[in-house]
Amino acid sequence: MGDVPSSHTRIIGWGSALPDKVITNADLERTLDTTDEWILSRTGIRERRIGGTTTSLGIAAGRAAMERAGVTGDAIDLVLLCTSTPDAALPASANVIQHELGVRGGAVDLNAACSGFVYGLVATDGFLRAGLRRILLIGSETMSRLVDWDDRGTAILFGDGAAAVVAERSEGPGGLLGFDLGSDGSMSHLLTAEVGGTIRMEGQEVFRQAVRVMVESAQRALHHAGLGIDDIALFVPHQANARILTSACTRLGISEDRTMNNLANVGNTSAASIPLALSMAAEAGRLAPGDRVLVTGFGAGMSWASAVIEWAT
Ligand code: UT7
Repeated sequence: MGDVPSSHTRIIGWGSALPDKVITNADLERTLDTTDEWILSRTGIRERRIGGTTTSLGIAAGRAAMERAGVTGDAIDLVLLCTSTPDAALPASANVIQHELGVRGGAVDLNAACSGFVYGLVATDGFLRAGLRRILLIGSETMSRLVDWDDRGTAILFGDGAAAVVAERSEGPGGLLGFDLGSDGSMSHLLTAEVGGTIRMEGQEVFRQAVRVMVESAQRALHHAGLGIDDIALFVPHQANARILTSACTRLGISEDRTMNNLANVGNTSAASIPLALSMAAEAGRLAPGDRVLVTGFGAGMSWASAVIEWAT
C-alpha cells in the first residue's frame, strides 16, 4: 500500500489560528495536583491555548491559507476538515466552514483522531487525481471541550487550535511521494471519549505503542517513496509528547534539529497538530522548494498515518 509514482498534489498556501487564551503550567498547578517541573520534564509542554469553536478556528485558519495561496472560495472544490471535535453531530462542521469562506464546492469531515490530517493529505491526493482542482484541507480541534479538567493525566496535554493548507492539482514539481495508513482497533480502549463524555487514556501504554507505530509507519512511507531518512529535510511528527518525539527520532535516525517541535507553546492539538507544526515551519523559513517532508501521525484507534511530501512553494 502507498506507492504514489506520479502525484499531482501541490501545496500552494498554509495558515493557522490559535485562541487568545493561554493556560500555562502554573495555571494548572492551581487546580491540579501537579507542577510546572513535572509537566515540562515529562511532556515538553509549557502552555496551551484554549477557546473558540472548531468551526471558528477552522474558518480563521482556512482564510489565512486561502489568502496566502491567493485564491478565493470560488476556486476551491472541497473543504476537507480533519477533526475529532466537530461542533455538532449534524451538520458536519465542514459545511459551516464552506459557507463562511464562500467555497463553491463540497464539504466533508474526516475523523481519524490525531492521525486525521495525514489521512486527509492522502485523501486530498485521491480527490485531486479524481478530477478536483483545489482543496482546502483543515485540521481543527477544540480538545478543551473533551478534557476532564480534574484529570491530571490528560488535562496537562491537550490544547485547541487549527491550521490549513490549500492543495492544488498540478503537473509541476511537488506532491505526495509515498504514504502509509494503519489502524489496530484491538487497542481502541487505550484512548477513548464517549459521546458527551471526556477523554480516558492509558498514558503509559499509548506512549509505548506510539513510538513503535510512528517509527514503523514512517519507515513504510519512506520505503514507498523510495527514500531514506537522510533524504528528509524536515520531520513533522504529531506533537504529543517531547519524549515520544525524542524516542522516535533516535529510532528513525534523524536529528532533532531536522524535526519540528512546537509542543512547548501549543500542547497536543490532535488533528491540528501536524498542520500547525507544518505552518510554523513554513513561517519560520524552515521549508524550501524541493524539500522532502515526512509527516507522521498516531492516536486514538489506535490509528497511524505517514506521508512523504515534496514541498513546492
Ligand atoms: O495524541 C494522543 C496520544 N496521546 C499520547 O501520546 C500520550 C502518551 N502518554 C504520555 O504522554 C505520558 O504517558 C503522560 C504524559 C500522559 C504521563 O507520563 P508518564 O511518564 O507515562 O507518567 P505515568 O503515567 O507513568 O505516571 C508516573 C507518576 C504516577 O505517580 P506514581 O504512581 O509513580 O506515584 C502518576 O500518578 O506520575 C504521576 N502523574 C503526575 N504527577 C504530577 C501523572 N500525571 C501527573 C501530573 N503531575 N500531571
